[in-house]
Amino acid sequence: MVRQTRAMTHFDIVPLDLGDLAQVRSRLAVMEAVGAHDHAGARPFNPAHVLASILVSRNDSRGERWVAVRDERVLGHLDLALPVLDNTHSMYFELGVHPNERRRGVGSALLRHMEERAADESRSTISTWLPMPGDGAPDISADGAVFAVGKGYTMSLGGAVRAVDLDTVDEEALDLLWDQASAKAADFDIVPFAGLPPERIIDGIAYLHGRMYTDMPLGDWDLQEAAIDRERIRDWADMRRLRGELHLHAAAVHKETGDVAGFTEIIIEGGAEEHCHQGDTIVDPRFRGHRLGTLLKIANQRQVRAWRPRMKYVWTGNATSNTHMIAINESVGYRLVCHENVYQKKLDR
Ligand SMILES: CC(C)(COP(=O)(O)OP(=O)(O)OC[C@H]1O[C@@H](n2cnc3c(N)ncnc32)[C@H](O)[C@@H]1OP(=O)(O)O)[C@@H](O)C(=O)NCCC(=O)NCCS
Repeated sequence: MVRQTRAMTHFDIVPLDLGDLAQVRSRLAVMEAVGAHDHAGARPFNPAHVLASILVSRNDSRGERWVAVRDERVLGHLDLALPVLDNTHSMYFELGVHPNERRRGVGSALLRHMEERAADESRSTISTWLPMPGDGAPDISADGAVFAVGKGYTMSLGGAVRAVDLDTVDEEALDLLWDQASAKAADFDIVPFAGLPPERIIDGIAYLHGRMYTDMPLGDWDLQEAAIDRERIRDWADMRRLRGELHLHAAAVHKETGDVAGFTEIIIEGGAEEHCHQGDTIVDPRFRGHRLGTLLKIANQRQVRAWRPRMKYVWTGNATSNTHMIAINESVGYRLVCHENVYQKKLDR
């Protein structure tokens, strides 16, 4: 336990106690308040997902959850993710302070604690994603970025968040786009599926997930390559099943060789009725130029409505430099909502 005292306030930083349901609930209330106060225009906070992720984690990353508490009330939370199978030099964090408890040193104390944990764990690169206001997104606050920059974090990757409203998508325009793209993709099958990838393509899906770590634009973000295998894909699928998440994929399969040429994925969290989000999308460099990205996106977007007819929004984030992916997203109906950047700090080991 770390005791902090500052003028007008004192609090302790302790690991979240899963046996203390009032504390778990109080932490949830802080996260909900931060979401409403700072990120009102972005994808809404989903408490059911937060609770499920406390109980079920993934094998390739170790999580730590800390809270700043005063009089049994949570003032702020700090979540850490420490990769254990790749990128073991890195640590990711999320930090939030209740809007009524700000400017009293809670955020600084949690950040200091986080950096001490990073040093203890020999993690040299720490990063976090922070939404930023964009044109027409007045409900996103820049407080987090101002705070992070003040503490020595630098923007290492500029990103943009887009959402598609499935109710307003022009399906006839998508039909036309599909036909035009299909003319260039006669050598490929588009295979939609839910949950664990079929046996014949699981290794190809794993390989392409690994390529995401090196093929997407990274800016100065210190992400290193990772070899993803079928065991990891199985673990992720099992984690999603236990959390009650629906995981929808579309894969492109090269007819002649059976190779997986590309895939895209959408995740529908447990308890999410209106909002879901895009995961990875990638086309193997060997098979680019066949409009597979467009076909995959259309197929999976339509799969969402087949599984969840009332699902309304799909959210996605892209590096602002990823012009090809952004053009595809815009063509299938995504529109800019706000920015989201990676902020990073390197510690001396
Ligand atoms: C960012 C956040 C965690 C700061 O929490 P906090 O408890 O208010 O932080 P502190 O009281 O320790 O602030 C320390 C210093 O950071 C700077 N700072 C914090 N918030 C600021 C703001 N809105 N504008 C300008 N400077 C700010 C100030 O220099 C402040 O010192 P001061 O109060 O003596 O002027 C909080 O605003 C928050 O939860 N935001 C939403 C979630 C988020 O963006 N998290 C990402 C954090 S990396």
